[in-house]
Amino acid sequence: MKIGIYPGSFDPITRGHLDIIVRASGLVDKLIIGVLQNSAKKPLFTAEERVELIERVVKENTNLTSVQVIAFEGLLIEFARQQQASIIVRGLRAITDFEYELQIAQMNHKLDSKVDTVFFTTSVEYSYLSSSAVKEIASYGGDISQFVPDCLIKSVYDKYNSIRSV
Ligand code: PNS
Repeated sequence: MKIGIYPGSFDPITRGHLDIIVRASGLVDKLIIGVLQNSAKKPLFTAEERVELIERVVKENTNLTSVQVIAFEGLLIEFARQQQASIIVRGLRAITDFEYELQIAQMNHKLDSKVDTVFFTTSVEYSYLSSSAVKEIASYGGDISQFVPDCLIKSVYDKYNSIRSV
């Protein structure tokens, strides 16, 4: 069974991420979405919330039956080993992504040569899209409906409202 891991912060998951998930899930028997739980970073959503948001999106897409969502801490390559994954999936939007991703992919391959990184070029309509931009727009009350899956738009605005009311 070929197992792939699509790792990321997913803070929050965007339509660009979903596009990669749909395409990558056709490449492997099981795709694990690995949600990075990094105590050094200060994400908008906790790892548990990000997992729940992604699970909601996966459930809505009835063709994504072999997709699982798991939070992880520490090295990605260790997580890949634990999950018996042989493929790491990453999306590339631009040449700037490539420079960073190439280095990480080579480093991960050096750490475990049985695990290969496979890159998906982002669909053109999502090439500009990032979770950071979504957060910035939402924080000013802008319209994020074209950027994140419908089922989590409200959760993003609610999160900013809850932060403001503290
Ligand atoms: O969505 P992101 O923030 O671009 O995802 C980055 C991610 C999670 C893939 C990367 O930070 C990662 O793999 N972190 C785990 C620690 C690790 O293994 N680092 C690479 C060692 S060279």
